[in-house]
Amino acid sequence: MLRTQVAIIGAGPSGLLLSQLLHRNGIESIVIERQAPEYVEARIRAGLLEWGTVDLLNEAGVGDRMMREGLVHDGFELAFDGRSHRIDLKGLTGQHVMVYGQTEIQKDLADARAAVQGQTLWEARDVVIEEFDGPRAKVSCVYDGKPLTIACDFVAGCDGYHGASRASVPKDRIVLHERIYPFGWMGILADVPPVSEELIYAHHSRGFALCSMRSKSRSRYYVQCPLDDTVESWPDARFWDELRARLPPHYASLVTEGPSIERSIAPLRSFVAEPMRFGRLFLVGDAAHIVPPTGAKGLNLAGADVRVLYRAIVEYYRAGSETLLDEYSSRALGRVWKATRFSWWFTTLMHKLSSDSFTHKLQLAELDYLRESRAASQAVAENYVGLRFAAP
Ligand code: APR
Ligand code: PHB
Repeated sequence: MLRTQVAIIGAGPSGLLLSQLLHRNGIESIVIERQAPEYVEARIRAGLLEWGTVDLLNEAGVGDRMMREGLVHDGFELAFDGRSHRIDLKGLTGQHVMVYGQTEIQKDLADARAAVQGQTLWEARDVVIEEFDGPRAKVSCVYDGKPLTIACDFVAGCDGYHGASRASVPKDRIVLHERIYPFGWMGILADVPPVSEELIYAHHSRGFALCSMRSKSRSRYYVQCPLDDTVESWPDARFWDELRARLPPHYASLVTEGPSIERSIAPLRSFVAEPMRFGRLFLVGDAAHIVPPTGAKGLNLAGADVRVLYRAIVEYYRAGSETLLDEYSSRALGRVWKATRFSWWFTTLMHKLSSDSFTHKLQLAELDYLRESRAASQAVAENYVGLRFAAP
């Protein structure tokens, strides 16, 4: 039997960031991950950080490369009806966001964990969390072909939507809220300069499109597609044609084509599990909530959970107080629901929802209103840069 203060299930961004912040505060943890490190590091996901997340990564001591290589964006573009409207994040909120891929964050976190020789059990199978209502929790798994038990004070369930942590909670103690959207995002990564210096979210009668980037020479583009589409039905030539067709003519003429280096289709889902704490077990990040990618809140919400939880755990070991631990679920969920609302609203505004002309006209009216009203644009900007954290 192994013993540690905090057992962290999952070595995604939530798990590794939590382990690093705990380590810097003298608290030991063991990370238990189902996959091999190469698999975890290769996953490609969103790439937009709120400044609160940037600050947290710096606080964890993993922000050096991000501060050197990340791109600071002061605004983004909403395109519709052949026109575009810039949301001036800096002018409207005094803040900005950072473009830096999650794949890079994952690498930086893995390097930091290796540098402090943090213990990670890779390829651990059959993880089950037990006795989380008792004085100690237990995590059991099969590691290196043998059964292994880890006794701990707390378990952080950072194992994503399909993980073992939420599955260990009896059904009558958890409430699940879910919305599945009837479309997906077909995304490509290509080593071509981005069409614009800022992100462009385009609403079009053919469907939504997003122009994003990973650097000044690497673009990330998405187009809305039917849920049952396959990557094979999107050869590069079709993708570039469709992207151009959905952008205002000026931007369409600036698209530089190139071979895709990654292609994937992601479904869109909103999901929240409540509460986020069960005795000694805390759900963190995608294990507790999923947002559709419109607005890129997924990683930022995970960071916000980690921030609340690590401070609560630090206070417990420093001062013996459980107050912040008791507040974890309600604090985290307050932010989660607001981001869930924003991601749902932004998704609903920008996508082709049906062939019904009434819905389409309402979307155009709302976009037009955003263009005319500083107050409406400010509400979007405030959510996009990330809502303030309540103290502490
Ligand atoms: N046992 C151990 N590990 C597991 C198990 C399990 N049963 N199930 C899943 N895992 C691991 C996964 O292999 C993965 O490495 O947990 C990790 C979960 O990582 P993510 O899914 O990236 O979740 P999280 O760390 O919360 O990331 C949150 O990243 O991409 C955004 O939308 C995502 O952006 C979210 C944010
Ligand atoms: C991305 O770059 O992958 C990205 C950026 C912004 C979003 C979603 C995804 O809203």
